[in-house]
Amino acid sequence: MKRVVKVENLKKYYVTYKKEAGFFGAIKSFFKREKKIVKAVDGISFELFEGELVGFIGQNGAGKTTTLKCLSGVLYPDEGKIDVLGFFPFERKKEFLKKIAFVMGRRGTLYWDLPAIDSYLLYKEIYEIGEDKFERTLKELSEMLDFDKLLNQPLRNLSLGERMKAELIASLLHRPKVLFLDEPTIGLDVVMQKVLRDFIKEYNRRYKATILLTSHYMEDVEVLCKRVIVIHKGKLYYDGDLQTLKKKYVRAKRVEMVLKERVEREKFEKIGKVKEYSLPRVVLEIEREKVPDKIKEVLSRFRIADLSVSEPDIADIVRNFFLESNESF
Ligand SMILES: Nc1ncnc2c1ncn2[C@@H]1O[C@H](COP(=O)(O)OP(=O)(O)OP(=O)(O)O)[C@@H](O)[C@H]1O
Ligand SMILES: [Mg+2]
Repeated sequence: MKRVVKVENLKKYYVTYKKEAGFFGAIKSFFKREKKIVKAVDGISFELFEGELVGFIGQNGAGKTTTLKCLSGVLYPDEGKIDVLGFFPFERKKEFLKKIAFVMGRRGTLYWDLPAIDSYLLYKEIYEIGEDKFERTLKELSEMLDFDKLLNQPLRNLSLGERMKAELIASLLHRPKVLFLDEPTIGLDVVMQKVLRDFIKEYNRRYKATILLTSHYMEDVEVLCKRVIVIHKGKLYYDGDLQTLKKKYVRAKRVEMVLKERVEREKFEKIGKVKEYSLPRVVLEIEREKVPDKIKEVLSRFRIADLSVSEPDIADIVRNFFLESNESF
């Protein structure tokens, strides 16, 4: 398999200055600033191969966005080597930019007052996309995302999910081979999350694109990624199969119920770990192997309006991982 990305001992530190509170504090900080160094990325190494779709996970502040910014050439790394398709990203060579895309779910790049199509025409010039390829790609992408009818709407008229579709199309018009997707599904409802997830999967399959994706939603990672990389406080702790990680560190499932009658909290505490108790909704965490029996018990003892079983979220996996591997947390 062809290697597309190689990161070796990447480090990126931010220098910030402590600010003291209050007026005198502000004056004091002005004359004598106390330096604070944030080791956002602290020596990570990994490789990505052509066509891989890899989940990049970790808690808030782990260093995911910083890494993606280094990989796409937005930030200059302090140390280490980065090779993306044979380029050093920060040089931002045209040939490099034509082959990658960096999408941030939390920040849009398109003009608010213009319809998406106007921005796309601008991108066509910037990325020197030929007429034919532009039309073909735009048609294909907007069909895949069911965006045809919205092309002429000013962006500010669109919903959050529709705007994300518009952003994705914009970043993919030049048909990049390597995608850095930073929380592309953030804040969207479950239906829209699924639409985008399916799209990412299809883009990966159709164009053999290599994708590094961050998300706080387990569902995204579960559906899209066979392999995951876990980072925490700038360091890499796991790089491998998602199922192996889950089997080892996730022994419980979430069981969510809506009750038809009032049941005391204590009764649920005998069944599993009560994660939420806000009647009529109750959420339990139950060990994987015991789920079927426990559900049977719940259904026979209480009147239940609705019940669903799901995987725990990414934060839980990462937490267990650290708790059990005795890493400082
Ligand atoms: N421009 C900056 N200046 C100073 N510190 C920063 C800057 N950007 C990020 N940081 C710090 O670097 C660390 C890593 O941040 P980063 O945004 O890479 O984390 P993340 O894994 O993307 O988190 P999240 O899941 O919340 O998006 C954090 O402690 C953050 O506060
Ligand atoms: Mg981030």
